[in-house]
Amino acid sequence: MRILHLGDVLGQAGRKAALEALPMLRNRLSVDIAIVNVENAAHGFGVTAKICKEFYDAGANVLTTGNHVWDQREIITYIDEDKTLLRPWNFPEGTPGQGDCVYVTPAGKKVAVINMMGRLFMDPLECPFAGVNRLLGKYRIGKNVDAVVIDFHAETTSEKMAFGHHCDGRASLVLGTHTHVPTADSQILPGGTAYQTDVGMCGDFDSVIGMKKENSIQKFMTKMPSGKFEPAEGPATVCGIYVETDDATGLAKRIEPVRIGGRLKGSWPNA
Ligand code: FE2
Repeated sequence: MRILHLGDVLGQAGRKAALEALPMLRNRLSVDIAIVNVENAAHGFGVTAKICKEFYDAGANVLTTGNHVWDQREIITYIDEDKTLLRPWNFPEGTPGQGDCVYVTPAGKKVAVINMMGRLFMDPLECPFAGVNRLLGKYRIGKNVDAVVIDFHAETTSEKMAFGHHCDGRASLVLGTHTHVPTADSQILPGGTAYQTDVGMCGDFDSVIGMKKENSIQKFMTKMPSGKFEPAEGPATVCGIYVETDDATGLAKRIEPVRIGGRLKGSWPNA
């Protein structure tokens, strides 16, 4: 199976680039499932129903989020209608929406997608390590699902790496999101799980993690409240990960970073 996962879409610049790239990527890489993290898609903060529709129309099959999921209030009432829009699974019980789903590809393959959030330097939540054990007891690659993809939305590289190893051999792909800067550690872990600490954002890299740099610098220099953070609007780099899995086992055979456009050096999976 061929899996594409695009990183955190940031504001209008990120949306434009990701929406343009998605149909081309689906086509050229013969993707079976495309997943996009949209938690910063609406002007840097959250996502709207209209933006979700734009991504589905462009070829996304499952949308993931993170700590910014509720920033646009309309999504709170919308999320229960949209079973492929995920919020972190380990939010408190009773929270609207869902943290996992199963997408069935046109060829009939089942892909479980899980959105989990880390706890280090983030809000206190149910333990993601214990939580994912429960989910991986339910979704078993090579048995009742063909692939398991986990978007681990977390701040620290250590928690993300520990989480990747914790899931090794039980998931097809564990991919970090949230920090917006792609890491250079894409690999297949010893047990067969594809892993990268952070996929990077779809956004303008002439910025501080996608937001205009001036306010951020000012805040670090003065410790005074700065102006409202606004997304940077220059040409965006689309950051993603492409993974091929073994259909018999659901484990990864190949992981390749995808980076197109904007300021970052490009990366493309060669045949
Ligand atoms: Fe985030």
